[in-house]
Amino acid sequence: MRILVTGGCGFIGSALVLHLVQDLGHEVLTLDALTYAANPISLDPLKGDPRHRLEQADICDPARVHALYADFKPDAVMHLAAESHVDRSITDPGAFVRTNVIGTQVMLDGARTHWESLDGEAKATFRFLHVSTDEVYGSLPPDAFFTEESRYDPRSPYSASKAASDHLARSWHETYGLPVLVTNCSNNYGPRHFPEKLIPLMILAALEGKPLPVYGDGLNER
Ligand SMILES: NC(=O)c1ccc[n+]([C@@H]2O[C@H](COP(=O)([O-])OP(=O)(O)OC[C@H]3O[C@@H](n4cnc5c(N)ncnc54)[C@H](O)[C@@H]3O)[C@@H](O)[C@H]2O)c1
Repeated sequence: MRILVTGGCGFIGSALVLHLVQDLGHEVLTLDALTYAANPISLDPLKGDPRHRLEQADICDPARVHALYADFKPDAVMHLAAESHVDRSITDPGAFVRTNVIGTQVMLDGARTHWESLDGEAKATFRFLHVSTDEVYGSLPPDAFFTEESRYDPRSPYSASKAASDHLARSWHETYGLPVLVTNCSNNYGPRHFPEKLIPLMILAALEGKPLPVYGDGLNER
């Protein structure tokens, strides 16, 4: 398959792109603006691999996004590009609305134009996967859990912008019929995690004997 992955130089995106190309043999176009959160050397193992191409592009740039759709002609899109750090969303919410809301709208518009140009099997099997977060559901009482029926209750500019993008994704499905999937996963951790995120932050601080900063009273559950 030909898969367009946005945010493929980020923490989860890079793991995904390596898996799609190296383990599953798909052809991947990585679209990434290479913000502070990107780590392009994560994709070094794919250098020279004809199945992978990296395009530095902003998902908020409609001309560029539409041109990349027309050129690559993906069978599927996996949309991960986002501003993703809650603390930064509190100091700079505009960047989150721009990338997470406007950027998602541009990606959906590009997908719609591309999908409407397809026919037969290609049109029937095309999918747009919108990768979101369980943070759109807010906070949990002790021992409870979220389901897909949980009420949206975002509590930060980050989760509010992701919630908005989820609604856009669903509405492109309802309004235009675009085959959209939305996932709301919980926190991921692992290799190449950016050090500002909780687990690497705590490990690094602990190793250096520094205080371990906890959000609120530390009792929030997801
Ligand atoms: N990390 C988690 O635990 C977690 C949990 C739930 C959901 N998610 C979601 O998964 C996705 C990936 O998360 P992550 O932790 O890998 O994020 P990340 O911050 O590590 O990576 C984001 C990537 O998106 C790129 N990007 C940012 N703005 C862009 C723009 N305007 N145009 C193009 N590219 C842009 C960055 O350069 C970076 O490479 C996000 O949508 C996030 O909301 C993450």
